[in-house]
Formats: sequence, C-alpha cells, structure tokens
Amino acid sequence: MVHTTPLVRRSLFLHAPIRRKPRLVLAQMLELVDDDTPPDGPDGPVAVLERRLADLLGKEAALFFPSGTMAQQVALRVHADRRGRRAFAAHPQSHLDIWEEQGYNAVHGLWLRRTGDPHELMTAADLAAAVSEPLAAAVWELPQRDLGGLLPEWEDLREQVELVRAAGAAAHLDGARLWEAQTYYRRPFDQIAALFDTVYVSLYKSLQGVRGAVLAADAATIRTAQVWRQRLGGGIRDAWPLALAALVHLDDLTARMPAYREHAIAIAAAINADGAARAHPTPPQTPLFHIHLPVPKRAVEQAGAEILAEHGIQLWGRVRSAPDPGRCSFEVSVGENAMEFTPDEVVALIRDLLARAETARHRTLRPDRQSEPPNMR
Ligand SMILES: Cc1ncc(COP(=O)(O)O)c(C=O)c1O
Repeated sequence: MVHTTPLVRRSLFLHAPIRRKPRLVLAQMLELVDDDTPPDGPDGPVAVLERRLADLLGKEAALFFPSGTMAQQVALRVHADRRGRRAFAAHPQSHLDIWEEQGYNAVHGLWLRRTGDPHELMTAADLAAAVSEPLAAAVWELPQRDLGGLLPEWEDLREQVELVRAAGAAAHLDGARLWEAQTYYRRPFDQIAALFDTVYVSLYKSLQGVRGAVLAADAATIRTAQVWRQRLGGGIRDAWPLALAALVHLDDLTARMPAYREHAIAIAAAINADGAARAHPTPPQTPLFHIHLPVPKRAVEQAGAEILAEHGIQLWGRVRSAPDPGRCSFEVSVGENAMEFTPDEVVALIRDLLARAETARHRTLRPDRQSEPPNMR
C-alpha cells in the first residue's frame, strides 16, 4: 500500500509546511547576503544575530545554541554551579520536564521542584513554598504554552521574581514565545528581560526561522555558558543558515505580533459566541490559545484527517487529550498561516469537525458492527 502525505494547502497550525519549504526559505535568506558575507566571525550572521538580540533584550551578551533544550539546561547548570545548589523551581507543565526527558537531571544532576497547580499559573504563594529548599533558580515560561498561552499580570510577575531573588536563586525566563508575551505586557522587550538573570528565546516559533535558540545574560554568565555549550556539542561552527533564517523575520514578524493577537481574539470570540466549542483563555492574552472540544480525541483526529484529505485544510499540529475522555483540545498560534482564515470560517470548520467527529465516534461505539465479518459491512 502506498502512503502519501495529504497536501496541506491552508493551515491554522503555525508550523505547517506551507511557509517552511526549503526553496522559499532559501530565497528569503539569499536576500540578506552578498558575496562578502562571511560564514563566521564577528561579521557573520550568527554574531550579528547575537548582537541584535542582546541589544533588543537589553543584556550584555547573547549566545547562539542549536536548540532551546540545550540553552536552558546550560543556563540552569551555570546558576546551579555558581550557587552550589541543585534544585530549581518550574511549573509542572514546563517544557524542561515534559518534553526533554528530564535532561536537567540525567545530564546535569539537577532536580525540579514542580511549583504550582498543573492547570493554573504559578503564584507568589507557590514560589514561597518552593524556596523553603534553597534553589539555584526558578523558571518562568512566558507565555505558559500548555495553559493556552496564559501570562501572569505584570505586578504579580515582579513580586514572584523578587521573592525568588531574595531567596538567593536566579530568575530564568523560558521566552520561547517572548515575542507573543510582549504584546500583552506592552512593554519594551528589554524591560521584560530586565526582570531575569538569563533569558532564552527561540528562533523558530513565531520568529519562523528553521531551528535554534539564543541565550542572553550578563557577559560573565555567557562566557561560562559558552564552555558548557562546547561540552555538550553545541558549539557548532557555520551555524549561519540557522541565524540567517531567524534574521529574515526578526523585524517584520515582531511588528506583526499585535495584529496576530487581535486576530486570535477575534477568532476566539467567534468560537465562544457560536458555542459548539470553547476557546480558552477568554480573551486570549497572546496570539496563542486553545480550542476545547466536547468529543473524544481519537474521533477528532479522524475528523481532522478527513478535512485535510478532502479540502487540504490542516487544523492543528496535534490534538491534546483531556482528563475527561469525552473531551480534547488543540492549540492555535496565530501567525501568517492563521491570518488567512476569517473568524467565521474557523467557526464553520469547527462545526464541520464536530459533525464528522460525532459520526466517527458512533462508528467506534458500535462494537456489534465491528465484530461482523468484513463482507457483512
Ligand atoms: C516553551 C518551550 N521551551 C523550550 C522549548 C525547547 O526548544 P527547542 O525545540 O529549540 O529545543 C520549546 C520547544 O517547543 C518550548 O515550547
């Protein structure tokens, strides 16, 4: 049997293949270079990107990493070694814990104090309890992706950071999506970054680069981080294609972020007014939010696959399960892809999805029919 991947023509998913085709990305990168652009050194794309991000974030220095996973583990390692402490605090849904195979522990011997309710943002009270053990650092993920892009209010955040600092721990920002968070706080990036000792930003989420990350901090921290990057195999030369791909969008996409957020708010409002599904949070604080559906995950996946096969429309990167097996959700992160859909169109797609999912569900709920021999169907 030949398997072909259905063609994605339009997508609500930020990382859909549409805008990531190598030829398109390479053409955009070519615009930024000429015959004299060096691959490395102080005038190479990596150094240019590091300087631009250090400036934007108001930090003394910045360092390129092949991945955010490596950048954050290194930041925590440096904070831990400096303080002679091995524990750090982070939200139970932190990327460090859920998606990185506990690398902080397996590679660096650090351990995590899961801080706060898994379904709510961390609070000052949660952190006050966490610092009862001397911590090397606390990590804030702004926005908290797995909670639908929630952000603490500015004054709450400041209070939390002060509390952690007063306990002798460092403040680290998982700013994979800092570009999105900035539209809510409406403060310059450097003001947000100033709360934190170390700041990681991703080059390929809303920035739509290919891969890679940057860690920004004071110069001494970055010097030590560079040693760890080398030890972990991340000190790769000629990383210029990754840096260039990020530079392509550094100016235009950050300028587009407020429009993305407005569009996310409009889509979420239309979904909630319709009532068949529910958008959360209401209103979205960032261009990222979740759509909660009153049908089981498998049926929704099946219905989404049908819509993709029939119309070339992709609705998500993945469907998320829920504690209630009759429900599930998916994430929308508005960027250029989702801007192509009007709010009414998204509502119509969700209605179509739910109708198909109901049908799929009834099919699987009929074990009598499933047990029939194939020639009886
Ligand atoms: C919140 C957050 N932190 C860290 C990372 C890790 O980034 P990378 O994929 O570059 O290792 C991700 C990646 O999705 C993320 O979403």
